[in-house]
Amino acid sequence: MSSFETGLKAAAEQIRRAQADKRLRPSIAGFFDEATNTISYVVHDPKSGEAAIIDSVLDYEAASGRTSNGSADRIAEYVTSNNLKVMWLIETHAHADHISAAPYLQEKLGGKLAIGREIIRVQDVFGKLFNAGTDFERDGSQFDKLFDDGETFTVGELEGIALHVPGHTPADMAFIIGDAAFVGDTIFMPDFGTARADFPGGDARQLFQSIRRLLSLPGETRLFLCHDYKAPGRDDYAWETTVRQQREGNVHVRDGTTEDEFVAMRTARDKTLPMPNLIMPSVQVNIRGGRLPEPEANGVSYIKIPVNAV
Ligand SMILES: [Fe+2]
Repeated sequence: MSSFETGLKAAAEQIRRAQADKRLRPSIAGFFDEATNTISYVVHDPKSGEAAIIDSVLDYEAASGRTSNGSADRIAEYVTSNNLKVMWLIETHAHADHISAAPYLQEKLGGKLAIGREIIRVQDVFGKLFNAGTDFERDGSQFDKLFDDGETFTVGELEGIALHVPGHTPADMAFIIGDAAFVGDTIFMPDFGTARADFPGGDARQLFQSIRRLLSLPGETRLFLCHDYKAPGRDDYAWETTVRQQREGNVHVRDGTTEDEFVAMRTARDKTLPMPNLIMPSVQVNIRGGRLPEPEANGVSYIKIPVNAV
């Protein structure tokens, strides 16, 4: 059995154990950021109070270059008022639409900053694009933990496992805690479809394979999404669904969709999408583990914009 299948099998077994025993299921709170359509999560073990924060958002106003902590403070407030102990600050990938608040939350609450091992490739691609100097280490050392495909972890007494799900970016991971999968930018709500695959290093064919891999998990696996944009006929934001619902009804990848059909659809659709407003600041900061570039001699950090390069 390949390591690809071993990880998937271990994930399915973990999910089944949690489905059979509610003490192995996490409590989950989602925090929706309207400015970037991102959902951040606090996932915790009700018994021990140990928690993971997934995909937190630092507020950033592009026009003024000002950051603020309103969204992150909402998360910190939830953690504190529920007496949770943060063990992990997890990024499903280097986001291109918002800056991570993980370093800010880490300083306030503790925990280890984690991302997928392939972040090294993303650092290489974007390090070149932004002409970052040798002071920018392209070895993932800005993070405390780099996860490999199929690697397990714990949140209190809950079991966790990371699966590599590239396509949107080379480094995307899904993090499964108990019976709940935090799938990052792979699949969205069934009526909206899937994540784009046209960023540098993205690949629609890989995205299809990653999504089908996730959809081979047990049907009642709870899926928690990284973004929602509503959808025609739906006026409320939503971010929780199941493998079964996706297989039956996802407008891009429901059962019966072939890889070639998906790739043709995804490629055509991606050509119509503008770059996210915050892609330049976000990527530049997020490949540094969410830390701003080193201040220049005057003590100010600068965000670069490559002109005519993307
Ligand atoms: Fe993303």
